[in-house]
Amino acid sequence: MITGKTKIIGIFGDPIEHTLSPLIHNEAFRCLELDYCYVPFHVKRENLKIAVEAIKALNIKGVNITVPHKETVISYLDELSEEAKVIGAVNTVLNEEGKLKGFNTDVKGFLLSLKEEGISVRNKNVLVIGAGGASKAVVYGLLKEGGKVYIYNRTKSKALAIKEQMNKYGFIEVLNKIEENLSDKVQIIINATSLGLKKEDPLPFDPEILDSKHVYYDIVYPETKMIKEASKRGCKAIGGLGMLIWQAAYAFEIWTQIKAPLEAMKKFLNTY
Ligand SMILES: NC(=O)c1ccc[n+]([C@@H]2O[C@H](COP(=O)([O-])OP(=O)(O)OC[C@H]3O[C@@H](n4cnc5c(N)ncnc54)[C@H](OP(=O)(O)O)[C@@H]3O)[C@@H](O)[C@H]2O)c1
Repeated sequence: MITGKTKIIGIFGDPIEHTLSPLIHNEAFRCLELDYCYVPFHVKRENLKIAVEAIKALNIKGVNITVPHKETVISYLDELSEEAKVIGAVNTVLNEEGKLKGFNTDVKGFLLSLKEEGISVRNKNVLVIGAGGASKAVVYGLLKEGGKVYIYNRTKSKALAIKEQMNKYGFIEVLNKIEENLSDKVQIIINATSLGLKKEDPLPFDPEILDSKHVYYDIVYPETKMIKEASKRGCKAIGGLGMLIWQAAYAFEIWTQIKAPLEAMKKFLNTY
């Protein structure tokens, strides 16, 4: 029940109708009987500044930030976490007594989902396809954990920009194309493009390079065509729901200072 004491959490994005975050977080609040309510806000680009000011004005406890605001929101915040600074994108904001602090929970979400699957990236060669915002979080996480990154993107300049920014954290090399001989060189292959989101999307690369020695990780959810191709070839195939849940759990903890009810959140999402 919403009362005068209920704390409000929101999500700002455009579009916003597709988001699963209200379901996940409201289930977590319900499960722990916390007096919070998570609300979607359709915020257009031209209204972002005023929407962020409204977090303070309306005493909203925190928000998630999604497409297309993750980068632009930074200029309206008071403070950034280390990860948000490095990646240059914020997906979670905490209102700490009128001071807005930005976080990027995708890095930790990605790493915790790997850990949950029992996968260590230390000294492994990892092929990352894509060089958008999510790719930056994945690459930073991999380098921090001692992985070696080979990155390919349709627009090479964006992969080069990530290399330029991230090579102080570890080994990163930009590829001109995805060649067959990569198959023996890499142990983990990650789709960090948005391909797979729509039914009609092409595969992000030729699945023939995959075989049973590879781990295939697709940050897109729900299950993509490429996950099916990878499973068919005997790979350990991991979809994007794990990362989604773990990044949400970390955001939940930032807002509430309470451990997220992870199993309940997962169970709810799986049955939805
Ligand atoms: N599981 C999770 O928790 C989680 C977290 C964050 C994001 N995601 C998902 O990750 C995906 C990417 O998000 P993002 O924020 O990184 O998006 P983004 O910044 O828009 O980047 C999109 C990436 O996809 C590539 N791409 C798009 N269409 C392509 C095509 N037709 N052929 C080849 N490459 C193409 C882009 O290449 P160009 O640079 O050449 O355009 C770019 O590398 C989204 O589906 C998002 O939902 C999942």
